Amino acid sequence: MHAAILFVALAALGGGGGGCVPSERAALLDVRRGFTGDPDGALSSWTGLDTGCCRWRGVVCDNATGRVAELRLCNALADAGSTGLSGEISPAVLRLPRRLSHNSLSGGGVASPPPPLPRFIGALSALRYLNLSNTYVTGEVPPQLGNLSRLVTLDLSYLAGLYSADLSWLAGLTSLEYLDMGSVNLNASVGWARDVNTLPSLRVLSLPLCGLTMTPPANLTRLQRLDLSSNAINASTADDAWLWHVPTLTYLDLSGNSLSSPFPDAIGNMTGLQVLDLNGNTMAGMIPATLQHLCLLQVLDMTVNQISGDMSDFMARLPRCALGHLRVLQLSAANVSGRLPEWIGDMSQLTYLDLSFNNLAGKIPQGIGKLSKLTRLFLNKNNLNGSLSEAHLWI
Ligand SMILES: *[C@@H]1O[C@H](CO)[C@@H](O)[C@H](O)[C@H]1NC(C)=O
Ligand SMILES: *[C@@H]1O[C@H](CO)[C@@H](O)[C@H](O)[C@H]1NC(C)=O
Ligand SMILES: *[C@@H]1O[C@H](CO)[C@@H](O)[C@H](O)[C@H]1NC(C)=O
Ligand SMILES: *[C@@H]1O[C@H](CO)[C@@H](O)[C@H](O)[C@H]1NC(C)=O
Ligand SMILES: *[C@@H]1O[C@H](CO)[C@@H](O)[C@H](O)[C@H]1NC(C)=O
Ligand SMILES: *[C@@H]1O[C@H](CO)[C@@H](O)[C@H](O)[C@H]1NC(C)=O
Ligand SMILES: *[C@@H]1O[C@H](CO)[C@@H](O)[C@H](O)[C@H]1NC(C)=O
Ligand SMILES: *[C@@H]1O[C@H](CO)[C@@H](O)[C@H](O)[C@H]1NC(C)=O
Ligand SMILES: *[C@@H]1O[C@H](CO)[C@@H](O)[C@H](O)[C@H]1NC(C)=O
Repeated sequence: MHAAILFVALAALGGGGGGCVPSERAALLDVRRGFTGDPDGALSSWTGLDTGCCRWRGVVCDNATGRVAELRLCNALADAGSTGLSGEISPAVLRLPRRLSHNSLSGGGVASPPPPLPRFIGALSALRYLNLSNTYVTGEVPPQLGNLSRLVTLDLSYLAGLYSADLSWLAGLTSLEYLDMGSVNLNASVGWARDVNTLPSLRVLSLPLCGLTMTPPANLTRLQRLDLSSNAINASTADDAWLWHVPTLTYLDLSGNSLSSPFPDAIGNMTGLQVLDLNGNTMAGMIPATLQHLCLLQVLDMTVNQISGDMSDFMARLPRCALGHLRVLQLSAANVSGRLPEWIGDMSQLTYLDLSFNNLAGKIPQGIGKLSKLTRLFLNKNNLNGSLSEAHLWI
C-alpha cells in the first residue's frame, strides 16, 4: 500500500528521473501515433514500454512539477534533405466528438491514425514551448492549440502544407511571446491581424509566405520583431497601415510584397528600428525626411524599389544620428541617379554596400577608402567613371 502511494507520487514528480504524468504520456503516445512518417527515428524513444516520458527525445519536463513543458519536434535535418516527421491533420477528424480518444485507436490497426496535433494536445496543458518547424505536417492548424494557455513559444514554420482559415483560437494563448507560422497558408484568414492583436505578451510575430493581404487594423503595441515578408500585402493604404504605428519594433521585414505607395512619413515613428527591410516592393519616390528619427538603424534594405531620385538627396535623408552604426545599406535597382557623395566615408561601420543597377554617374569618391569595415561593395551596372586606385584605399 505504501509502496503504491510512493510510486504514484514519484510518477507525478517525474522531472529529472524521467517519469511523467500518465495522462500526458498517453497524450504523447497519441501524438506519436499521428505521425505516419519518421524517417530519422526522431520518436524511437517514445515507446509504451518506457514510463519515463520526460526522458523521451524532444520532450522536456518542468523540474518542479514533472509536467511536459517543451516539445521539440522540429526537423533539425531539414538542410540535409530529410522530410522529418510527417502526418496529416484532417479537418474531418478534428470535427469528431471526444469519443475518438487514444484508447479507441490503440487496438484496431484498421482505423487511420489520429492527426499528429489533435485535441489530445489539450492534455499537455503545461506546455510552454512547441516547435514543429520543418516537419511534413499537412492539413488545418488544429484550433485545439488554443487550449495551451501557458504556451510562450509556438513555432509552426515551414511545415509542408498547413493552412488556417481562422486564427481566432490564438486568443487562448495568453502567454504567447513568440509566434512563427511561416509558410502556413493564411490567405483565407481575413481577420489574422485582429486575432494576433488579442495576444497581450507577443514580442515576435513571423508570418512570411502566408498569402496575407492587408487586413483590419491592429494595435500590436508591444511587438519587437515583425516579419511579413513574401506575402501579397499591397496596401495602397500603406500610408496609414497599422504596422507603421508599432513604436516598439526593432525589426521590420516587409520584403517581397507589393507595396506601391510612396514611403510613408509614419516610418519615422518607429524610432526603435534597427532593421528595416523593404526589398522587392515597388514603393515610389524619395525616402521621407522623417527617417531622420531612426537613430538606431543598422540595416536598411531598399533593393528593387522606385526611388527615382538623386543619390545625394537620398543620403541626406539617411538618419545622421545613425551614421555611426549603419552596417548594411542595400539600394540595388532602385533607380537612383547622380553622384555618390564624398561623405559616404563617414558611415564608419558599413560592412555591406550595394548600389548596383542604378544610374550613378561621376567618379567613385575617395571617401569609400575610409570604410575600413567594408567587406562587400557592389557598384556594378552604373555609369560611374574613373577607377578605384590606391587613393581610395586610405585617406
Ligand atoms: C532541470 O534540471 C536539469 C538537471 O538538473 C537542469 O539541467 C535544467 O536546467 C533544469 N531545467 C529547468 C527548467 O530548471
Ligand atoms: C525551432 O527549431 C528549429 C530547428 O530545429 C530552430 O532553428 C528554431 O530556432 C526553433 N525555433 C524556436 C522558436 O526556438
Ligand atoms: C480545447 O479546444 C477546443 C477547440 O477550441 C474546445 O472546444 C475545447 O473545449 C477545449 N478543451 C479544453 C479542455 O479547453
Ligand atoms: C489561397 O490558397 C489556396 C491554396 O494554395 C489557393 O488555391 C487559392 O487560390 C488562394 N486564394 C487566394 C485568394 O489567393
Ligand atoms: C491600442 O492599445 C493601447 C494599449 O492597449 C490602447 O491604449 C489604445 O487605445 C489602443 N488603440 C487602438 C486604436 O485601439
Ligand atoms: C490589393 O489587394 C486587394 C486584395 O487582394 C485587391 O482587391 C486590390 O485590387 C489590390 N490593389 C492593387 C492596387 O493591386
Ligand atoms: C506618426 O507619424 C505621423 C506622420 O508623420 C504623424 O502624423 C503622427 O502624429 C505620428 N504618430 C505618433 C504616435 O507619433
Ligand atoms: C527613374 O528615375 C527618373 C528620374 O530620376 C524618372 O524620370 C524615371 O521615370 C524613373 N524610372 C522608372 C522606371 O520609374
Ligand atoms: C566622368 O563623368 C562626368 C560626369 O558624367 C564627366 O563630366 C567626366 O568628363 C567623366 N570623366 C571621364 C574621365 O570620362
